[in-house]
Amino acid sequence: MVATKHERNEAFVVREATIEDRAEIEALIAEMIPGCDVAARWRWLYETNPGGPALTWLASAATGEVAGCTSYFPFRLWLDGEEVRAALGGDGYVRPAFRRRGLGGLLHDASRRAMPAHQIGCMYGAPGAMNLTPLKHGGSRELGTVARYVRPLRVGPSVVGNLVARATRPRGGATLEPVMELDPRVDTVWMEAKRDLRLAAIRDAKFYQWRFRDAPAQREPGYVILDDHRPIGACALESLRGGDELHIVDVVAVPGRWHACLDAIIRHAGDRTRARSLTIKLFTNDARRRRMWQSGFIERGTKPFLCMIHKDGDRRFLDPQRWFYTGADADLDTLE
Ligand SMILES: CC(C)(COP(=O)(O)OP(=O)(O)OC[C@H]1O[C@@H](n2cnc3c(N)ncnc32)[C@H](O)[C@@H]1OP(=O)(O)O)[C@@H](O)C(=O)NCCC(=O)NCCS
Repeated sequence: MVATKHERNEAFVVREATIEDRAEIEALIAEMIPGCDVAARWRWLYETNPGGPALTWLASAATGEVAGCTSYFPFRLWLDGEEVRAALGGDGYVRPAFRRRGLGGLLHDASRRAMPAHQIGCMYGAPGAMNLTPLKHGGSRELGTVARYVRPLRVGPSVVGNLVARATRPRGGATLEPVMELDPRVDTVWMEAKRDLRLAAIRDAKFYQWRFRDAPAQREPGYVILDDHRPIGACALESLRGGDELHIVDVVAVPGRWHACLDAIIRHAGDRTRARSLTIKLFTNDARRRRMWQSGFIERGTKPFLCMIHKDGDRRFLDPQRWFYTGADADLDTLE
């Protein structure tokens, strides 16, 4: 337990939550994400994540009133050829009456100190604007940005739009098939894809099952990308803005087939959806190396990518040249 004081000398206590605190944490989640099915979120993100159960820290006022929380959702990462344990940071919330007194920073501080005890190599993510300063006060570093890429699919009125879509669609090649229960084809893809990745969340069948097939909202179906029956990639797609936008939540490809996978998704979007644009979020350094323009994607806006390690932690996590990041590295199972 760490007793701390903010500038007005009112005492706050930040401590690691236990299962006894579940009701309090669920109440905070309900306030933080209005309309959320809290029980389903708890089961999915806090209990059954294959990376391990969530770790939560709670801040309370001297009166005993719970003021806020933050959580780590453990993720299995692939770092230079081996599996390591890390975490996504998420569900950071301070009740309005207690905001801007340093509690957000204190919660991040406490979580950082606990990293070695929980064998968490790093905590990472692309946080919301309000959480940027508290995260930096808690020791997070800005390693670069996550960029949103857009590829137009249909322009103008629907008849013309469909003609343009057809004319600019990549021809032939790979196709998408829905992922099955613990799909062994995803494992086949991952076994090859990982050879090209230096630092990335492990995207094996277990991960795809949990992150997409078992996700409470059921809004991000996963697919295997097949070229002549051979799995060359996997992806997850989410329809946004009433179907106008198709968002590539995740895509992972075997070495040398990145653009073949993107082209397969573009064809799928053109043939099977009425989306007018295709979008994806990627770590900017990585996306530029992958020459997203080759498949017609244009960079449109960025947000900071933050990573925190313990003060004696492994500095490879802080290397912006290593990261591969997509929307799969998110604690939400829908963007809408
Ligand atoms: C993000 C949150 C947890 C921060 O809690 P907090 O206890 O107020 O944070 P701290 O007091 O440690 O840090 C406050 C700093 O955050 C930043 N901040 C707070 N509110 C902000 C806002 N509306 N816009 C931009 N920055 C803001 C400021 O830099 C502020 O510092 P200042 O008061 O010196 O200007 C809290 O604002 C919150 O619960 N927000 C709603 C949920 C949310 O956005 N969660 C993050 C999801 S990634």
